[in-house]
Amino acid sequence: MSRSAHPAGPRYADVLPEGHYTAPPADLNALDARVWSRTVDRDAEGVVTVGGIGVKQLAEEFGTPAYFLDEDDFRARCRAWRDAFGPDADVFYAGKAFLSRAIVRWLHEEGLNLDVCSGGELATALDAGMPAERIALHGNNKSTEEITRAVEAGVGRIVLDSFQEIVRVAHIAERLGKRQRVQIRVTVGVEAHTHEFIATAHEDQKFGLPLAGGQAAEAVRRALKLDGLELIGIHSHIGSQIFDTSGFEVAAHRVVQLLAEVRDEHGIELPEIDLGGGLGIAYTPDDDPREPREIAAALRDIVTRECAASGLAVPRISVEPGRAIVGPTAFTLYEVGTVKELPGLRTYVSVDGGMSDNIRTALYDADYSVALASRTSTAEPMLTRVVGKHCESGDIVVRDAFLPADVAPGDLLAVPATGAYCRSMASNYNHALRPPVVAVTDGEARVIVRRETEEDLLRLDVG
Ligand code: LLP
Repeated sequence: MSRSAHPAGPRYADVLPEGHYTAPPADLNALDARVWSRTVDRDAEGVVTVGGIGVKQLAEEFGTPAYFLDEDDFRARCRAWRDAFGPDADVFYAGKAFLSRAIVRWLHEEGLNLDVCSGGELATALDAGMPAERIALHGNNKSTEEITRAVEAGVGRIVLDSFQEIVRVAHIAERLGKRQRVQIRVTVGVEAHTHEFIATAHEDQKFGLPLAGGQAAEAVRRALKLDGLELIGIHSHIGSQIFDTSGFEVAAHRVVQLLAEVRDEHGIELPEIDLGGGLGIAYTPDDDPREPREIAAALRDIVTRECAASGLAVPRISVEPGRAIVGPTAFTLYEVGTVKELPGLRTYVSVDGGMSDNIRTALYDADYSVALASRTSTAEPMLTRVVGKHCESGDIVVRDAFLPADVAPGDLLAVPATGAYCRSMASNYNHALRPPVVAVTDGEARVIVRRETEEDLLRLDVG
């Protein structure tokens, strides 16, 4: 994240609070390929297009705010992950990033597996035809109903997160006359360089059982004693929006150490390890994400090396990317409603959505970029703050954004890289209606999750 003094110029206030910005880009109309999905472009009139369709047409047909998801890009990213890891590893898409029935079908077609973390995600996966054995169930407090449904359906694995859950899943499986394949989620004590709320490998937090102090080893001991469980491996997820592979390497090292301890104590080699998700994406051109093949090679190397050092056979590796697959595939389209210039402070550009469709800026201080999408402009760059329409001053979409100084009500703004954790964390705050997700491919656009209506809201309100 780069922070610097604002550039001089008539459109910038003399004194601005510290912000998340550098100098304005050389060409405000250019679409930086690092943050836009692959089929995004501008047409001859300067209108942003995705899958060959202009945003003016999309806004007319589907309204704003709306998420537009580039299906070809999504499928290409699935294939890139699958090919990078190859047939000896498994890629589980993390459904929490964004899940719908269409997504499940695409994953199935592209040969990916699916990580779900709630009964709702499991229901969506099964309804859309994901074979149960390709589903992993996660969560630090799965309900008895969720576990029962997962075991009944025959999910490929349940990732155990506490001592109570080890017993709970074993009992349910035994009652159903099944032996459930499970992994144990451990915390490896890595400090991931990311926001505190999305870092998950340090020990002082709710997920997993710490390797340090022996709780993880004790969990293995207990799981191995129970008939209802088939312990297939160890799971570690170190956090999210990570750019540096060193955290994964430390995690792999420590997980393999546990495999060696298990071999020494119990005489068995657990056949699998899961290294979770967490690979970062570019929200702004300053972000420099790793490619799946780099991650795959780094993980394979470290696991192979560590196993050789411990005399273990190399286990089957799985990973769970969510953001890195769906994040870059979508943008949110908004319409500008007001432009308010506060002399000496800044210019606020208000759009017709906000924290109800993207909570990440408010929650994690996340950076986004934005483009004027319905036209190009030759006006000079103006430093703005793009805000939503909610009754809350923290309702910020893009904290510091350069837009052409002639930005005006009726313009369409597009915020890229909103495919992950935006629709899935959307809310009805202020009784906002959650926007639709529209899949675009090859000149065709279709709604895959429709816009909520006031009727939907009132249907839940039973009076
Ligand atoms: N596997 C497990 C066990 C996870 O807990 C997560 C994310 C993932 C995989 C996928 O991580 P990804 O590749 O998408 O980073 N709401 C936050 C992110 C929370 C992620 C929670 N777990 C955000 O908007 O940044």
